[in-house]
Amino acid sequence: MSLQKNIEEQYKNRLDKSELYNSDYSRFADAERSIKTKQLVKEFLNINNKTTVLEVGSGQGGNINLLREMGFNDQTIFVNELLPERIEGVKRNYPAIKIFEGDAIEINIDQKFDCVFQSTVFTSVLKDEDRIALATKMWELLNPGGIILWYDFIYNNPNNKDIRKVDVKEVKKLFPKSVKSKIIKLTLAPPIGRRVGKLYNLFNVPFLRSHILGVFQKQ
Ligand SMILES: C[S@@+](CC[C@H](N)C(=O)[O-])C[C@H]1O[C@@H](n2cnc3c(N)ncnc32)[C@H](O)[C@@H]1O
Repeated sequence: MSLQKNIEEQYKNRLDKSELYNSDYSRFADAERSIKTKQLVKEFLNINNKTTVLEVGSGQGGNINLLREMGFNDQTIFVNELLPERIEGVKRNYPAIKIFEGDAIEINIDQKFDCVFQSTVFTSVLKDEDRIALATKMWELLNPGGIILWYDFIYNNPNNKDIRKVDVKEVKKLFPKSVKSKIIKLTLAPPIGRRVGKLYNLFNVPFLRSHILGVFQKQ
């Protein structure tokens, strides 16, 4: 099955699960991610009004506000998405943001970016060869000195066969030419986080965290 068909099939089954994410858990996890992303990116990139970012697999644009808070603006934020209904969502909610439609692996443009970002996209891409092709494309799309920004989970979910973890070793292998990198663990694992609700910060110790945030810099 092609990557596009795979993704379409996977996401058909996922649409009705969104209520899981409207919870204390998602609020705490989003706040943690927002703070840590801003801190980590600052160590690598000085964002001014010309610094550009491309998010591959943006969904309906749920990360655009975080990108704005980081200092990017609607002229310097670019997104990409494969699924037509999600592309429509971006256009509806963020009409000023430029979107490259279709499979990120096929993006064919002259432009390069200072930051190329992916958030929980690779865990939907199940085949190793597609993961390598996508990482290679992200790297090609980076300016010299630019950064890959990575957020994804490092453990499998036994109840969801449509996703597959990307562990730290694999992520590092996807960006072998990076000259400087940093990876941190974050996000209290969902099965625990959903149970503890407002006690998120109390339980959020490193060995209970399920995701990593990473930056990989190009020379
Ligand atoms: C779990 S969602 C994450 C959405 C968003 N990045 C976020 O953090 O909320 C993964 C998204 O990646 C998209 N996607 C997966 N493979 C893709 C590809 N090869 N090219 C473009 N988008 C892709 C899916 O359609 C889906 O919208």
